[in-house]
Amino acid sequence: MKIVKKIDDVRKEIKKAKKEGKTIGFVPTMGALHNGHISLIKTSLSQCNFNVVSIFVNPIQFNDPEDYQRYPRDINRDIELLKKVKVDLVFVPSVEEMYKERADTYVEVTGLSNVLEGKFRPGHFKGVCTVVCKLFNIVQPDRAYFGWKDAQQLIIIRKMVKDLNIPVEIVGCPTIREKDGLAASSRNIFIKEDDREKALSLYKALKKIEDMVLKKGIKDTSILLEEGKSIIVKYPDVELQYLEIVDFEDLSPVRKIEEKVLVLGAIKLPYVRLIDNIIIEV
Ligand code: PAJ
Repeated sequence: MKIVKKIDDVRKEIKKAKKEGKTIGFVPTMGALHNGHISLIKTSLSQCNFNVVSIFVNPIQFNDPEDYQRYPRDINRDIELLKKVKVDLVFVPSVEEMYKERADTYVEVTGLSNVLEGKFRPGHFKGVCTVVCKLFNIVQPDRAYFGWKDAQQLIIIRKMVKDLNIPVEIVGCPTIREKDGLAASSRNIFIKEDDREKALSLYKALKKIEDMVLKKGIKDTSILLEEGKSIIVKYPDVELQYLEIVDFEDLSPVRKIEEKVLVLGAIKLPYVRLIDNIIIEV
């Protein structure tokens, strides 16, 4: 496994792999790797014969500087994990390497970036799209792997790739959960044991909505959302930021479930913000 810090070195390795006719799989991450990341990497390994992972905590996608400062970083542990799964190339650039000179160019997918997460994290998706576009230009992968855990991010990246004709196939991978159902996340290490139940309230709300649709045939989203929200608001120190049922393709709100939908939510415990979602198909 090669570990490189410089863009030029990535380019050299990719050029070599492409010359050998290899298919390039790419998993962009911000590190502090967990089972969610590993499942993306394993999917990449099963479909491609040259596998690249990037680890870069991208400052321009954090709208809250404190969140950026305390974002978990454990590069030595990450490298050991990646060695075990047999990745070919790890790209670990510094902030200076990625944003050398003052950058005046950003990539923004309008519309989709301003709803749901976008309302609570202004500028977040602009930062995500800009760095992912840069990484795509550096790694030039055939396929890139993203998790449904961040459903809005995945949908926005797909739109960016389509709109800008970027020659990469975006592969969506299912959300990996911890034993109790909590979606795996780098930020989960912040959750205190006593707050576990509160952290799980969002997932419980999502499952309740799923049950009501699939077992009871309730399709009116206002009824479903009211019931889901009631599970979360029981906890006074959990702030419900949003819980919405939207179209699977364009994220527009849905009043009656007739096609594939996404149920997405975000909650804030006093010291950590969590997002989760499920897909419901009737
Ligand atoms: P990060 O949060 O490190 O996530 C990297 C990838 O892992 C994303 O595609 C994310 O959706 C996926 N992932 C995270 N938790 C998951 C889970 N529980 N199950 C399945 N997949 C999961 O997302 C980012 O980094 C950044 O925004 C990035 C795309 C790297 C751009 O900076």
